Amino acid sequence: MTTVAPRPGPPLWLLAELTYRCPLHCVFCFNPVDFAQQENELGTEDWLRVLREGRELGAVQCGLSGGEPLLRDDLEIIIAEAARLGYYTNLLTSGVGLTAQRAAALKAAGLDHVQLSFQDSTREMNDFLSHTKTFELKNRVAKIIKDQGWPMVLNVVIHRMNIDHIDRIIEMAHEMGAEYLELANTQYYSWAFVNRDQLLPTHEQLRHAEEVTDAWRKRLGERMRIFFVAPDYHEGKAKKCVNGWGRMFLTVAPDGTALPCHTAKMLPGLEFPNVNAHSLREIWFDSEGFNRYRGTGWMKEPCASCDQREQDLGGCRCQAYLLAQDAAAADPVCAKSPDHHRVVEAVAHAAARDPAALTEHPLVFRDPANSRRLSAAFVTPHA
Ligand code: FES
Repeated sequence: MTTVAPRPGPPLWLLAELTYRCPLHCVFCFNPVDFAQQENELGTEDWLRVLREGRELGAVQCGLSGGEPLLRDDLEIIIAEAARLGYYTNLLTSGVGLTAQRAAALKAAGLDHVQLSFQDSTREMNDFLSHTKTFELKNRVAKIIKDQGWPMVLNVVIHRMNIDHIDRIIEMAHEMGAEYLELANTQYYSWAFVNRDQLLPTHEQLRHAEEVTDAWRKRLGERMRIFFVAPDYHEGKAKKCVNGWGRMFLTVAPDGTALPCHTAKMLPGLEFPNVNAHSLREIWFDSEGFNRYRGTGWMKEPCASCDQREQDLGGCRCQAYLLAQDAAAADPVCAKSPDHHRVVEAVAHAAARDPAALTEHPLVFRDPANSRRLSAAFVTPHA
């Protein structure tokens, strides 16, 4: 199928996923479930070329993520080139490997910004959810980030197991001197989809968390900006995922596959080009993978005649595939979707579960053994 797509502007955000290797094993990780089958990584020179091509295209922000990007020992070289090219650089890290010495080297290379992830405000839950002993380390890293003069940006993925601690999470971020705190409600794809039953909060939990967050916002004003990323399962409204397919974000996976979002590779019937075979310009403007869901021309009903179609652009293609088995369907989180009942049922099912029983079905941690097991067992996804 060839879709007539509007000519896009430049990709403002280039996200370089440098590696899928990671010392943590988070149960909500957004890396592909089959990451263990994708061990190839671009070399240093390839990444430097990608950075140059991205900048020529007009990209201005460069995110460096993973996995854990600090596991790449050429990170300083990559950041130095990104800084030389004029990108605003942002390192997204668990903190593992960010010693004072490494932080100084990254600062000298020109790194602008570090986003540090926490799993919770308590050692027990932080370490349980990541399946590592990293809580103390993260606290040390937070201080290292402050010492280097970077803006302190903390990111906490929110779900049923930590949402009731939100007051303490915000307090912890404030005590650490964070300028920004992102409370990102879990998006249910990749590993979070595997663990959805245990991670989905109830409506009451969410309402309470928003009230607590609002109270802190009033108390702290501009001293710490708190972003509460709304959960689309509970809202009945689709969001403009990645700000629109192929509109702003260009992700390059560790093996060089270029993607409109970090989970798009799972969508069937779509080929995504590799930066080793094509220039970023060809990929962005001409590839079928980037053009397929651009604009609104690909939509079917109810999106095609919906008065919100320009606002939400049909929602998330990956979620449509996971829940409706059709990447061109309306995102089932939208109340107008014929598959919306799957979302309503998932939330009701999670709410009906006794919290004490949440551990009856063990969480599936993101690790190579589980990745291989799930990849072998993976058939068609369904709600
Ligand atoms: Fe892929 Fe939303 S995560 S389009």
